[in-house]
Amino acid sequence: MEYAEIEAGQAYELQNPGGLVLVCTKGADGRYDLSPVAWCCPLDYAPTSRILLVLDTGHRVYEDLSESGEFALALPTAEQVDLVMRTGAASGRDQDKYETCGIKAFAAGRVDARIPEGVAGWLECRLLRVVVEGTSAVVMGEVLRAAAAPEAWKSRLHFVREGILYAPGPALSEPR
Ligand SMILES: Cc1cc2nc3c(=O)[nH]c(=O)nc-3n(C[C@H](O)[C@H](O)[C@H](O)COP(=O)(O)O)c2cc1C
Repeated sequence: MEYAEIEAGQAYELQNPGGLVLVCTKGADGRYDLSPVAWCCPLDYAPTSRILLVLDTGHRVYEDLSESGEFALALPTAEQVDLVMRTGAASGRDQDKYETCGIKAFAAGRVDARIPEGVAGWLECRLLRVVVEGTSAVVMGEVLRAAAAPEAWKSRLHFVREGILYAPGPALSEPR
């Protein structure tokens, strides 16, 4: 195997499997918002699932979930690349993305958030804790409810860096 040096600023890409989520929130002004986030991973699974997100503190969804104490994570499919890119290119501070991006959505059950139709599944969370480092916030949430299509992982969309998104290939092992 041959290796090339990677700049420290790009090194994060080596560990960015990036199962994309759409963070769905509701602001104090009553407007719903959603933003794609690639930096999201499990934090724990017992006694219930807990999830960790890294969010820029300037994002509207960060402000919304900080104030409301809740959010949902919708799991976009490979067919929803356009929706991901459009919602990630604008801020809900300036517009209602559900309206401007023509997103059909339904209400989550345990938190006040709108889930886009056609996603592979979603998780509804209450905010546990936030740790801010510079302009990055590590957001910890506890899953209150989740629902997903059968074998949802197969249709999920993953993000490595700008211009590189992928969907999982065939499984290397059979389910137990
Ligand atoms: C594919 C993709 C992945 C992204 N991942 C993250 C991320 O992990 N963390 C983050 O803070 N922002 C991420 N962003 C940027 C936000 O989604 C984007 O800035 C969004 O417009 C913020 O909107 P808001 O102000 O309505 O929350 C990502 C954007 C795209 C397109």
